[in-house]
Amino acid sequence: ASTRSINLAVIPGDGIGQEVVAQGLKVLSAVLPQDVKLETKEYDFGARRYHATGETLTDADLDALKRHDAILLGAIGDPSVPSGVLERGFLLKLRFAFDHHVNLRPSKLLPGVASPLAGQPEIDFVVVREGTEGPYTGNGGTIRKGTPHEVATEVSVNTAFGVERVVRDAFARAQARPRKKLALVHKNNVLTFAGHLWTDVFNKVAEEFPEVTTEYMHVDAATIYLVTQPERFDVIVTDNLFGDIITDLAAAVSGGIGVAASGNINPGREFPSMFEPVHGSAPDIAGQGKADPTATILSVALLLRHLGHNAEAERIETAVAADLGERGDAPRSTEQVGDALAARVAG
Ligand code: NAI
Ligand code: MG
Repeated sequence: ASTRSINLAVIPGDGIGQEVVAQGLKVLSAVLPQDVKLETKEYDFGARRYHATGETLTDADLDALKRHDAILLGAIGDPSVPSGVLERGFLLKLRFAFDHHVNLRPSKLLPGVASPLAGQPEIDFVVVREGTEGPYTGNGGTIRKGTPHEVATEVSVNTAFGVERVVRDAFARAQARPRKKLALVHKNNVLTFAGHLWTDVFNKVAEEFPEVTTEYMHVDAATIYLVTQPERFDVIVTDNLFGDIITDLAAAVSGGIGVAASGNINPGREFPSMFEPVHGSAPDIAGQGKADPTATILSVALLLRHLGHNAEAERIETAVAADLGERGDAPRSTEQVGDALAARVAG
């Protein structure tokens, strides 16, 4: 059932985040029926806040964010902030605190979008990336720092509980799609401890989904097939690190970073889920009105589907497909793309 009101936390963030989120909100307002009440509250996180206060994300911030139905994020990150501070202190902290264990990244090559791959292959798959474990938990450390004997560890954390819940989610998604195919991507021939846990759990859960066709693929082989046979994929489930890497590749072959959307999802709805474009704050083009807001607008569609507004989500996706299909060579500004999509979903 869909909610009749949406209480949305909006985090424009840094760089082009500000520009693309404005267009995402414009399209959201345009697509919602009159009787759905949209409330938004904007939060200032990212580089500005960090420079002003030294804070990235406090417990009080988390308490405030918790009260929303969902979060729309632009991007966080700026060259003026040391690498890792905002990634760990904001993005990862939020994903862990709100237990966003399903990181959903669809890839669909829409008509009118040029893929760098020859022959315009049919690409329509979704990557379900584990979002709270793997090598991203901060389980590691350094000793003898700065000496020739420096030691660094970065331990990959994999729990039966954490693997099973994301694998289950991926099977359910595969079951709900027409082709009903699921690939497990890992590196279980070398990373045997984690790899065998993933494989065992995957095979066990598979017994409950007899209609889903499964395959296993090493991550290095997956990077080949994503380029040579992207049409073979339907749903992919994989760990946090592999998922991070192959989804950038997936975005590159299916229309580029300007159209790649994602959701950081808490399927049990204990905490609000967060939706964001896959791209970052793009300091090289920030403030120029050049950023493509389509990835953010497609992330709004994922957000609406998560909240049960399926018809509105589809309206956005249809509008984007039509817009891309008719997009000429003339460059359009961020705002022009937003206006065009807002007009299509309203009309
Ligand atoms: P990026 O995605 O910001 O930019 C990569 C390239 O793609 C740039 O040439 C940029 O101009 C272009 N690009 C990105 N989005 C675009 C759009 N909507 N339309 C047109 N062109 C677009 O990645 P980069 O440069 O590695 O990172 C920049 C900053 O963003 C860093 O501080 C990084 O940490 C942060 N970042 C934040 C993310 C997040 O908030 N979830 C995700 C990725 C990076
Ligand atoms: Mg990435």
